[in-house]
Amino acid sequence: MLWVHVWTHVTSRDNKDPSENAAPPNGSRVSGSPTTQSPRGEPVLSAEAITKIYRMGDVDVHALSGVTFALHPGELVVLLGASGSGKSTLLNILGGLDTPTSGNVLYRGGNLTSADEAQLTRYRREHVGFVFQFYNLIPSLTARENVALVTDIVDSPMAPAEALELVGLGERMDHFPAQLSGGEQQRVAIARAVAKRPQILLCDEPTGALDFRTGVRVLDVLRHVNRELGTTTAVITHNAPVGEMAHRIVTLADGRIVSERRNEKPKDPSELSW
Ligand SMILES: Nc1ncnc2c1ncn2[C@@H]1O[C@H](COP(=O)(O)OP(=O)(O)OP(=O)(O)O)[C@@H](O)[C@H]1O
Ligand SMILES: [Mg+2]
Repeated sequence: MLWVHVWTHVTSRDNKDPSENAAPPNGSRVSGSPTTQSPRGEPVLSAEAITKIYRMGDVDVHALSGVTFALHPGELVVLLGASGSGKSTLLNILGGLDTPTSGNVLYRGGNLTSADEAQLTRYRREHVGFVFQFYNLIPSLTARENVALVTDIVDSPMAPAEALELVGLGERMDHFPAQLSGGEQQRVAIARAVAKRPQILLCDEPTGALDFRTGVRVLDVLRHVNRELGTTTAVITHNAPVGEMAHRIVTLADGRIVSERRNEKPKDPSELSW
């Protein structure tokens, strides 16, 4: 059966597949080399004409009204849009946390829309890292233990210490969340999301609860992960200037994509202000 074949490919963790952890074609995986072009290639993940209608009693809420969107290997995309425009709905559907009312979501050629719960769980666990506005760390566990919760359940993860080093928290590994600042807690959450080496990192307002300077530090970590690991990344934000650090900026309004802009010269997060 085609689905089974495709899904086996989708959920394969065979790291011998050279496409699995491929660097972005522009070589931007090298730390510090300025990224001047958007990575291209076959989409890792795509949404085709998706709609999402929430039925609230007699009223239908059209959260998404025909969105077609793709994430390409190694790219960093920023999603903008007013409150209620459908950003979180789109991200949740891409991440297999929610399903569309109609349309298809394809991950490396496998159709997530026809996946069952077990397959979606596997997709989320093995291929997607999530970062939310609130860090969702377990208060009674240290930074290292919070990351280890995830690395214990996937194949070929990074060591928790390596993931924490990657986000600049090598000195804070044995701190509990209450002993860390908000920005540091968010960096632990990012370490937790990337330690399983996901193909895709989905971030819903990762700087929403942080002050400007701390927010810039967190964005810098996301860009670092995108470059170092080549992780395809989507970031939702309310701060339009954050788009300047992305390869591509996509704007939603009323459940539709209303603009899409490629950014040939992504800025360093330290150059941003909002
Ligand atoms: N579970 C739900 N039940 C009913 N309506 C919902 C649900 N989730 C979202 N909506 C509606 O769908 C629309 C899109 O919501 P969504 O959360 O995607 O917006 P958003 O762009 O992320 O907004 P914000 O910037 O405020 O987070 C809104 O009108 C919202 O009220
Ligand atoms: Mg939202």
